[in-house]
Amino acid sequence: MMLHLLLFLHLTSVIIWVGGMFFSYFCLRPAAIQLLEPKLRLPLWVATFSRFFKLTAIAVVTIIATGIMMLLQVGMKFAPVGWHVMLSTGLLMSAIFIYVCAVVYPRLCKQCNEVSWLAAAATLNTIRKLVGFNLILSIIAIAAATFAR
Ligand code: HEM
Repeated sequence: MMLHLLLFLHLTSVIIWVGGMFFSYFCLRPAAIQLLEPKLRLPLWVATFSRFFKLTAIAVVTIIATGIMMLLQVGMKFAPVGWHVMLSTGLLMSAIFIYVCAVVYPRLCKQCNEVSWLAAAATLNTIRKLVGFNLILSIIAIAAATFAR
């Protein structure tokens, strides 16, 4: 029962984080580029990230905590190789997320406040690349969790 609850929380949080990144990258971004000029588009991203990053922070903490709890029930030594891959990719994804929240996003906010649209667009592009990289890592983590048992 406890294991089911941990897996439920783990997967719900994964869906929130990875689903949010997928939606931002493949749906919101192209639509915003098509319809909005920079002075509207860039503040839209600041407002969107401000909400998404708070919810994602909760999801990231939950993923790591539940993942480690499930891992420890089996023990690092006996865990399938896929779980080790998941742990490594999960920690790398979390480090990238923290970097975006702590360093890149505040820069985007500052540039938007200063009305420096060109600089803000370049910073947003950095976030796009990091989110794209995290999406690739998440595919690897999901593949490792499901195939490499
Ligand atoms: C600190 C990082 C992580 C650790 C320690 C961890 C550990 C675990 C463990 C022990 C399980 C249980 C597997 C089972 O009972 O079959 C699990 C399931 C799973 N994890 Fe993770 N995980 C982490 C991060 C992630 C991330 C970042 C993702 C996806 C982006 C992910 C996706 C999954 C999926 C899809 C399952 C379900 C696998 C299945 O039941 O077949 N995990 N994780």
